Formats: sequence, structure tokens, C-alpha cells
Amino acid sequence: MRVLVTGGAGYVGSVVVEELARVGHSPRVLDNLQKGHRDALAEGVPFVQGDVADRPLVEALLRDEKIEAVIHMAADSLVGESVTDPAKYWRNNVGGSLALLDSMRAANVRAFVLSSTAAVYGEPEKQPIDEDAALVPTNPYGDTKLTIERVLRTYDVAYGLRSIALRYFNAAGASERCGERHDPETHLIPIVLEVAAGTRPEVSIFGDDYPTPDGTCVRDYIHVLDLARAHVLAIESLGEGGPTRAYNLGCGGDGYSVKQVVETVRAVTGHPVPVKMAPRRAGDPAVLVASSARIQRELGWRPERQDLRVIVESAWRFLRAHSSPC
Ligand code: UFG
Repeated sequence: MRVLVTGGAGYVGSVVVEELARVGHSPRVLDNLQKGHRDALAEGVPFVQGDVADRPLVEALLRDEKIEAVIHMAADSLVGESVTDPAKYWRNNVGGSLALLDSMRAANVRAFVLSSTAAVYGEPEKQPIDEDAALVPTNPYGDTKLTIERVLRTYDVAYGLRSIALRYFNAAGASERCGERHDPETHLIPIVLEVAAGTRPEVSIFGDDYPTPDGTCVRDYIHVLDLARAHVLAIESLGEGGPTRAYNLGCGGDGYSVKQVVETVRAVTGHPVPVKMAPRRAGDPAVLVASSARIQRELGWRPERQDLRVIVESAWRFLRAHSSPC
């Protein structure tokens, strides 16, 4: 299938592009490179630098490249920033998506996969979280993604645009050539690895008084290659029809606490990781663990790298190989 991947030079996007190509699809990438890295794409992957909101550019791209499906990953995704600068999130995430969907309608492209997030659920008490849990985001980032999901349901009814929203829990790990290179880095695993590598002095643990076994927050880390595989299954299933829907993507089980992540990094790297206790970070739920039973049942997806050690090993290999650019 000829697939346009917006944000395809970003962390998850670049691995999705690799996976699409590996199984024989033809990815094309649109990325404005505000956060993405041009060198995250293998040589020969067709690339256009531009913005999803650029209607003439996107429409021409969709028509000229005879695109059959779009995977939309271009977005702002920092929870804290979304609280301090919500206008940016509504403009880029919702405004950008609406413009992209208009271009798709004009070019008659009717299959769409959205990068969505566990943040659409807010702070549910019942774990693991399934797709029928209440949708009550507690920050503008989650709110913008939920808004796009709602838009998509109406576009299916009105315009026959089929879509799947993939609600990621905590994407982590790396492929051979692509991994996390955020600036600034806010995510736990790359931060702890930078401490192990000696490029950061210590990691702050944001709160150890949560109602969890060791007092630190528990998250559901999913290997980026498993995440990428789900995108491929999603576009293939859209090709076969089916209603607009949303799927959780996590590994389930008990999840891993912040302290368990630190311990795993120590074990994998063999380096000391100094930690400092710090106050809770605003808006962090105690536990977020997914039930991904629905995508397992309906699309046959299975996580293959759910062991935290495997995830951390891949991220560590990436960090050491790419301390200079990827
Ligand atoms: N943490 C620390 N110290 C750090 C960084 C993080 O203790 O230096 C803790 C956080 O408090 C949290 C856990 O490690 O408990 C994981 O934090 P991340 O920032 O790595 O990930 P989040 O769970 O906060 O965020 C992820 C995605 C978001 C998404 C959110 C859904 O990155 O895009 O899940 O709630 F919105």
C-alpha cells in the first residue's frame, strides 16, 4: 500500500516507516522537521519537508503519489507544555489534523490511522484500562487527541473516511537505527540511560508516596517495534473495510515502576545511576496499564518484546551507537 506518514521523521514515526518498508508497503514521509530528524530515515525513503496544515502541498502530495492511506503522527506531545501553551496544541494537533483531513477528502483518500494516547483516559481508577473506560483527559494534550478521535467518528458517517486511533501507553526502546532523540528529553527511560552514560548527573524520581507497591508511578512500557507493527496491521485492516475504532497499545501485566526502570537500567548497563527524590510531577496518575485485548482479538497483534530488560537493552544500544547523530 502507498502510505503517507506524517511526522515520519520523529521517534515512533521513523520506526513505523522502517516497518512499513520491511513488510513491502511504500511509505512516503511528510515532516516539518521541527522535532523530527532527516537522518532518521533510510536512504531512498521519499521525503517532503512541510507542514500537515499546508493544504496545497499536502493535496498535491496525496494525488501525485497516489496515496491510499495516511498514518498521522505529526503532533505536539508534551503534557506539561500543553498545560502552559494550550493554544499551540489546539492549533497544531486539532487544526493541523482538520487541514490534513480536508486535503484527504479533496484527494479522495479515505483510510486514516491516528497516533492517539493513553492521556485520553485521564486518571482512571480501574486497571488495566480498556477502550470502554471513561474518556476524561486531564490535560490539553489528551483533550486534543480525544477531539480528533471524535472528529473521525463523524467523518466516517458523513464522508466514508475510515480510521483507527491507536492509543499508545509508554512508547520506549529502539530499532537498530532509530530511537528517542527528543530535545528537551522528558521521558523516563532515555533520561535514566543518559545518567548511566554519564551525560546527566542524576535522575529525579517524581514522587515515592503513590499508592503503588514501591511508592513510585507504574507505567506500561511498549517497545517501539511492537508499536510500529500495530500501525501496519491497522492500515492493512482498513484496506479490508471495518468501522472507525480505537485500540489501546500496551503490554498489560503489572507494568513497571519508576524504581524498577532505574534498577533495570543499572542491571543492563552495569553503571551506577544516582537518583534524587523529588516532589510529584503535576498531573501524573499513579498507575497506567493497558488492556490491549481488543487489538489482539480483532487484528491479531501481540507484543513480542514486553520484557523491560529487552526494551532497555535496545534503547541502550541505540544511545551508545548514536551519541553522535543517528
Ligand atoms: N519520571 C520521573 N523522573 C523523570 C521523568 C519521568 O520520575 O525524570 C516518572 C514520571 O513521573 C512518570 C514516569 O516516570 O511517573 C514516566 O514518565 P514519562 O514522562 O516517561 O511518561 P508519561 O507516563 O508521563 O507520559 C506518557 C507519554 C505521554 C502521554 C502519557 C499518557 O509520554 O505522551 O504517557 O499519560 F500523554
